[in-house]
Amino acid sequence: MSKFAFLIRPYVALDLPAIREMWGRSIRELGPRAYSPEQVAAWAVRTNDMDRLGERLGDGRQVWVAEGVTEEPIGFIDLEEDGHIDFLYAAPEAAGQGVAVRLFAEVERAAKAAKISRLHTEASEVARGFFERMGFVMLHRRELELDGVPIHNWKMEKQLA
Ligand SMILES: CC(C)(COP(=O)(O)OP(=O)(O)OC[C@H]1O[C@@H](n2cnc3c(N)ncnc32)[C@H](O)[C@@H]1OP(=O)(O)O)[C@@H](O)C(=O)NCCC(=O)NCCS
Repeated sequence: MSKFAFLIRPYVALDLPAIREMWGRSIRELGPRAYSPEQVAAWAVRTNDMDRLGERLGDGRQVWVAEGVTEEPIGFIDLEEDGHIDFLYAAPEAAGQGVAVRLFAEVERAAKAAKISRLHTEASEVARGFFERMGFVMLHRRELELDGVPIHNWKMEKQLA
């Protein structure tokens, strides 16, 4: 049983700066578990564009934030209308405490309520084991390039009964 207290709530636009900052830290500190320094740096560059993040999180998709006792975001997840999960990130200081499990439970609940029959994502190598534990199956490996740096992730899906 974790002593780590947090709650899950819907994202609001005011969260954007803190979410962007946490997103960058998550990539820079947890990314090295599976990727090289060059890959982590190329991935983290994505977090510089706050306007783009704000557009994505505010485009009508559902987004949830995990909030710690200091009211700082310690994780976030989204669910698009077609069952796509674009974002799942935990703050490094909160990793391994069940934040992602709780965030994913919220997505699964909302997806079932919306009669979405399939969840799918492009899981990083860091997140792959997590999604497998949540019942996702791997479809294929995706070879990508970010600013000229080769990097891979995994297309995964979960059918909802
Ligand atoms: C993947 C990520 C979101 C998991 O967040 P988290 O809050 O640490 O995960 P949880 O604590 O909820 O983990 C739940 C369970 O999955 C396990 N788990 C977490 N990451 C795992 C991994 N990479 N492989 C296997 N199991 C994993 C944990 O041990 C835990 O199991 P337990 O409850 O039996 O101990 C987090 O590592 C992260 O933000 N990574 C960097 C960003 C990233 O890759 N995001 C995904 C982009 S697609």
